[in-house]
Amino acid sequence: MQHILEELEKKRAAARLGGGQKRIDAQHAKGKLTARERLELLLDDGSFEEWDMFVEHRCADFGMADTKIPGDGVVTGYGTINGRLVFVFSQDFTVFGGALSEAHAEKICKVMDQAMKVGAPVIGLNDSGGARIQEGVASLGGYADVFQKNVLASGVVPQISLIMGPCAGGAVYSPAMTDFIFMVKDSSYMFVTGPEVVKTVTHEEVTAEQLGGATTHTTRSGVADLAFENDVEALQMLRRFFNYIPLNNREKAPVRPSGDPAHRLDHSLDTLVPENPNKPYDIKEAILKVVDDGDFFELQPDYAQNIVIGFGRMDGQSVGFVANQPLVLAGCLDIKSSIKAARFVRFCDAFNIPVVTFVDVPGFMPGTSQEYGGIIKHGAKLLYAYAEATVPKITIITRKAYGGAYDVMASKHLRGDVNLAWPNAEIAVMGAKGAVEIIFREDKSDPAKLAAREAEYKARFANPFVAGARGYIDDVIQPHETRKRICRSLAMLKDKKLDNPWRKHGNIPL
Ligand code: COA
Repeated sequence: MQHILEELEKKRAAARLGGGQKRIDAQHAKGKLTARERLELLLDDGSFEEWDMFVEHRCADFGMADTKIPGDGVVTGYGTINGRLVFVFSQDFTVFGGALSEAHAEKICKVMDQAMKVGAPVIGLNDSGGARIQEGVASLGGYADVFQKNVLASGVVPQISLIMGPCAGGAVYSPAMTDFIFMVKDSSYMFVTGPEVVKTVTHEEVTAEQLGGATTHTTRSGVADLAFENDVEALQMLRRFFNYIPLNNREKAPVRPSGDPAHRLDHSLDTLVPENPNKPYDIKEAILKVVDDGDFFELQPDYAQNIVIGFGRMDGQSVGFVANQPLVLAGCLDIKSSIKAARFVRFCDAFNIPVVTFVDVPGFMPGTSQEYGGIIKHGAKLLYAYAEATVPKITIITRKAYGGAYDVMASKHLRGDVNLAWPNAEIAVMGAKGAVEIIFREDKSDPAKLAAREAEYKARFANPFVAGARGYIDDVIQPHETRKRICRSLAMLKDKKLDNPWRKHGNIPL
């Protein structure tokens, strides 16, 4: 018996060594951790249960029959993060460059299936040279099997990808289907075709980092949600992020009580909005001042900065914040910001996370580039996302809410549960100046008359009370009591139940 036990330990040790010490050293030399080291940092100490350590590929072509490495380039299983269950796969670049074989894909699918059965999130740590070239179409089939699971799991259990090395070609489409993508700066990249192919086809000279590095995807393409300095920071932040989300679509996010009183007032909010309506201010200040302990986990902070999205807690409850940012493009809605916020709202709705929206929006961005780019259908995404959402929706208009953008930003008309306005809010079809220039065109040559008209329009419409008179605003509140009012609203909405009519699925404008 003893020798059998020893044999098992030997087999385990061989599997743990992956592609061998030389390749582990090479991985470290690149500033990267190994697949197993990463899991150790991500999961609670000693919580990892590994599966399929002895799985091997079944390829016999190109000398592969003689090169079998137990585990086949991906470490899979489950563990806990702050005591909460999570399924994981971590690609091992030391084994065939982490390339995906049929067997490797089967391992990923197995943990995804189990995660769906028990209702727990899936986190993928991607570090792979792509399809296992020696396996050909079997490997492509493996990818498609993973894609199919990603789609079926979407909206059922949260899926998070952390890109920690190469992720190219078909490999990008599994992370692309997950809810969040995080990347590590300088050591990870994602693209559908690499720099060599780009050069051949479009004659563009571009490095892998420029084409698909973490900075590119968090500032230009919006493909990734956050970029981190190194593996350790990325994994630690992922642990923090995990605390905001529920395990599945039937549960609520965990409540983390804080010492921050729900009724806390913040008088500095009374002077946050400048008197001059054209002067910007930082909406993040409003979020930081209302959220528990000033702790806000922002997503996509460097992309489409005219809208702010992220998680925080209100009286311990996880909340998704969406806010127009007057500091950038005056906070107007454009293609990128609409898509950014729409996807976030849909995540929150799918996973029972209430949405708190701060509104200061002068409208949709005008111009040919927006119209030719399809602002109509992309702006509609945000409208659709808010309108279909059945989670608690609380909206605070801090200043402007003009035109169609007023409707879109979680208005009462889109089943907003609690819609509040600060006393200086202006809820109107457009700004007073633009409005009188259109409706009093005949006074165009008379500045004095026009100014009088403008003052009249302002007095009539540039306030929250016209909307309040119709019940479109539930209350006009003092800015300093915003936190208290949101917390009370969330408590009132705790057991909110609202269903959309049955359908196979809606047809969101894509
Ligand atoms: N299939 C099989 N083996 C692969 C592989 C793949 N797709 N990608 C990498 N490998 C192997 C390499 O042969 C090498 O094996 P070795 O350690 O036995 O020499 C090992 O993984 C490491 O690759 P290497 O090229 O030395 O690493 P690198 O850091 O210099 O480059 C890549 C990484 C991903 C840029 C490079 O390996 C590459 O271009 N791979 C192919 C990508 C591709 O075209 N994939 C198929 C389409 S999706």
